[in-house]
Amino acid sequence: MENKGPYNAMITAVGHYVPDRVIDNKYFEQYLDTNDEWIRTRTGISERRRLDKDKPTSYMAVRAIQSLLKNRNIGIEEIDLIIVATVTPDMIYPSTACIIQKELGAKNAWGFDILAACSGFIFSLTTAMQFIQSGSHKKVIVVGADKMSAITNFEDRNTCILFGDAAAAILLEPTEDKNIGILDSIMRIDGEGGKYLHQLGGGSLNPATHDTVDKKMHFVYQEGKNVFKDAVKGMADVSYEIMQKNDLTSDQISYLVPHQANMRIITACAERMGLPEDKVMVNIHKYGNATSATIPSCISEYWQAGKVKKGDYLILSSFGAGYTWGSILVKWAY
Ligand code: UT7
Repeated sequence: MENKGPYNAMITAVGHYVPDRVIDNKYFEQYLDTNDEWIRTRTGISERRRLDKDKPTSYMAVRAIQSLLKNRNIGIEEIDLIIVATVTPDMIYPSTACIIQKELGAKNAWGFDILAACSGFIFSLTTAMQFIQSGSHKKVIVVGADKMSAITNFEDRNTCILFGDAAAAILLEPTEDKNIGILDSIMRIDGEGGKYLHQLGGGSLNPATHDTVDKKMHFVYQEGKNVFKDAVKGMADVSYEIMQKNDLTSDQISYLVPHQANMRIITACAERMGLPEDKVMVNIHKYGNATSATIPSCISEYWQAGKVKKGDYLILSSFGAGYTWGSILVKWAY
């Protein structure tokens, strides 16, 4: 995506929040026909986090943003815009951005939600980037937050073992240096994939009724095998494409930051790019698939561990419901 604005957008802070409650694979063995070995070998997941029933997505998002503000040592009043990536908003409306803005007292910020499922964070980051590149905004927060336990059918072994709850945020600020920050973005959608991964209930097509609830239409539905096949190809292709397009070789890339849906998808993507294991950010074993929070939580954890440094090339890649997918190239700025 060509930058026609006067600035580049650079990530200047990160922060994340995960709930304390850990659900390990043994938990599911107690009541479902599944086992730890199957889950680990087929997905790479050992445990995931679950937020309390009475707490919403915004609870985690607010805490992720508070941690980001602390890391950057700034106050919330400096924030111009808050973009929330989520498929589990607190409610249909008002937007979760409005709820977060109120909770944080972000009196100088406006905001909105973006729904692109597992690609929500990269779609939101690409959107936020435009506000910075144009010069219209100086400090934009993108928070990816999902309480997947709110839309998971815990009796469906095909899906319930996959998902977790988490939130993570990044801050974008402008720089006149066109060689640093977000250098490129490739975003794609293909509505043909909608049939394999969706949540049919609760929208205008199937508003909530006793019948939609009885049919469990308010839960995630996934035909895993089809999504798996398309995700391997989609994510690997676009990750490779952004590398090629920017004349980068695998040895110049510091990290692939993949969406954490399945370790086998992540490995296939890294292999296609020629990247060794230690150049791939992974936290799927701890958190499962936390949808919009996977990519920023990886970055935040690796940054916190001192593993990301100025000048590193990061390729962020995702694939999810829609289908939605894409890649972003970042040269780390701090
Ligand atoms: O984040 C958005 C994008 N989503 C993804 O990228 C997810 C993509 N899909 C996947 O990650 C994988 O397809 C899954 C992890 C969901 C499933 O793995 P799979 O290797 O594709 O398994 P499968 O669906 O082909 O199922 C193989 C077998 C089936 O049994 P039969 O029909 O062969 O007898 C399933 O019923 O495994 C069975 N199975 C399970 N067995 C034990 C499915 N879930 C489980 C389970 N425990 N939890």
